Amino acid sequence: MMKVLVTGSHGQLGNELRRCFETMQAEIGAVPRIYEGAQVDYIDYDSLDISDAHAVAAWYREHGPYDLTINCAAITNVDGCEQNEAVALHVNAIGAENMARAAAKCGGKIVHISTDYVFPGTDPNPRLEDDPAVPISAYGRTKWEGEVLVSAACEASFIIRTAWLYGYVGKNFVKTMMRLARDNGKISVVNDQMGNPTSANDLAYEILKIAATENYGTYHCTNNGTCSWFDFACAIVDAAGIECEKEGLSSMEYKERFPQSADRPAYSSLENAHLTATIGDEMRPWQDALATFMQRLPELGD
Ligand SMILES: NC(=O)c1ccc[n+]([C@@H]2O[C@H](COP(=O)([O-])OP(=O)(O)OC[C@H]3O[C@@H](n4cnc5c(N)ncnc54)[C@H](OP(=O)(O)O)[C@@H]3O)[C@@H](O)[C@H]2O)c1
Repeated sequence: MMKVLVTGSHGQLGNELRRCFETMQAEIGAVPRIYEGAQVDYIDYDSLDISDAHAVAAWYREHGPYDLTINCAAITNVDGCEQNEAVALHVNAIGAENMARAAAKCGGKIVHISTDYVFPGTDPNPRLEDDPAVPISAYGRTKWEGEVLVSAACEASFIIRTAWLYGYVGKNFVKTMMRLARDNGKISVVNDQMGNPTSANDLAYEILKIAATENYGTYHCTNNGTCSWFDFACAIVDAAGIECEKEGLSSMEYKERFPQSADRPAYSSLENAHLTATIGDEMRPWQDALATFMQRLPELGD
């Protein structure tokens, strides 16, 4: 019987992985049958702090060995990381390395999730997996360091970069825009940063498909199509049927209003090139994924 460990299981992606394992069905396809009957341990900060190397090793001794570890645990508050990079580094880089070491020691594979924010966003063309990572924020730096450490610690590792993630459970941009539109009758959103909104349910499905292979390495995995945060916000409030004033802001105007905010890449669209070259890219256009999400949110949202 396959044994799997999912960290960060209270988060957006962790919850969608759980949904996939429990129903063996994602929105864009059936979960590969090799996971049928798998024993999956779902953990989060309350049962294991991944930044504690001794605790991680002890967890694997007691509960392992795991055939597959999926590390979704991270400090994901991009502005918060700017204020405390050392803490973010401890989790996003050292914590990730701890998980990769433990996975390797028991002969298992690891999937580690990373971000489009490893790129500087200066070139307005979709990024390929091998393009140079030059992060411009503390979050991006800590996530890049995590990638390097995971790859070095475990040969059987998949680094999967995603972007602008939203899931049914947890906080995200989609829910925030709906709340602000309803509460204030107005949304003010940056219109000169481009990327790929991505459904956590779609990502969870692709993670399970990639992890069933032995094609280790770095993958980009986002819903297809590129838009600005402003385009994304407009699509959200329109789909929710909320009438509100929509204000587009430049990054400079946003920074003037929120001087503590982290710098973000102007263009960080990812091309799912490695996916396409291996198992195929089944990710939907972002508009289709959002439409399904908005339909199912009343039933599945927290
Ligand atoms: N969200 C995005 O837009 C986005 C974009 C690109 C990539 N990603 C990456 O995708 C992955 C999943 O993101 P997500 O949105 O699902 O994140 P999330 O909802 O913030 O969930 C992350 C989980 O990790 C937990 N965690 C934090 N520090 C931990 C520690 N030291 N030990 C154990 N658990 C810890 C968090 O607990 P607390 O809540 O208690 O801190 C939280 O439950 C992350 O690697 C993230 O960097 C996310």
